[in-house]
Amino acid sequence: MALRKILSDNHPVLRTPAREVAKINSGVLRLLDDMIETMREAQGVGLAANQVGVSKRILIADAGKDGEEKIIELINPQCDSAEGEEVGLEGCLSVPGAYGEVSRATELSVRALNREGREIKLRVSGLLARILQHEMDHLEGILFTDKALRMLDPEELQSEE
Ligand code: NI
Repeated sequence: MALRKILSDNHPVLRTPAREVAKINSGVLRLLDDMIETMREAQGVGLAANQVGVSKRILIADAGKDGEEKIIELINPQCDSAEGEEVGLEGCLSVPGAYGEVSRATELSVRALNREGREIKLRVSGLLARILQHEMDHLEGILFTDKALRMLDPEELQSEE
């Protein structure tokens, strides 16, 4: 495994819709492993492949609770349904130091392939639903700053940190 560089500052790959994964080969598996290590190192809770410069529809999220890690890996994720609405605070490893309030669905049904190429279906809610919506936006070239109802100003940031 190796750390990959996380792109920021509106890098063009961040702003380009990512491509479907046609074949889950050793390069895709290595990418997944590297993304997990990179997310861990950056202390993030989600990461999309185009954030590390690879324009493929792959994302990971940490669904763990109380400091226990539980990694979810989604290849070619698709949202089947989204319900509810909640405004919450978000940040992004590709927009360092910025936080904003974003409205997201509270319940989500998602379909994707796992690393064995099998279709998996997930029903998620709360924080994990928010993370998956944020990461699926990345795969469309969308950043949370595009959708934020309000960005936090510097004084508010200090109380967040
Ligand atoms: Ni992000």
